[in-house]
Amino acid sequence: MTHEQEDNLIDAALAARKDAHAPYSNFEVGAAVLTASGEIFVGCNIENASFGLTNCAERTAIFSAVAAGHRSFLGLALASAGAVPPCGACRQVLAEFCEDLPIMLYDATENKPLQRKTTLVELLPDRFSA
Ligand code: THU
Repeated sequence: MTHEQEDNLIDAALAARKDAHAPYSNFEVGAAVLTASGEIFVGCNIENASFGLTNCAERTAIFSAVAAGHRSFLGLALASAGAVPPCGACRQVLAEFCEDLPIMLYDATENKPLQRKTTLVELLPDRFSA
């Protein structure tokens, strides 16, 4: 990813966070993935009164991209309070489509610059694959 692509991805994740539906946890998350073809797909967390049905922002974003025909990804940006990394379930879902993936974690509340840069392999070593 170029610096410009990274900045655009972070901006997209921050904007997506505004659409989060998180009335139960009040923890809003925005995600954006960059496809190999240069398109950005976004997602937010979408909670449900039946809590277990909640969808994380990362899965919303990658499922949108996959549903539009994309299978190859260059990066993921995540925006949340405290710049949290993806949960375990989302790591495994991302691993379905990515051998590895640069991941940028951004602290949305403090309006700080990028908090942490990591990779999917760093977050999910020795992942399961069929
Ligand atoms: N959440 C995400 O969207 N992504 C993660 O990686 C961790 C958790 C959401 C799910 C739920 O709506 C809220 O954050 C609190 O767990």
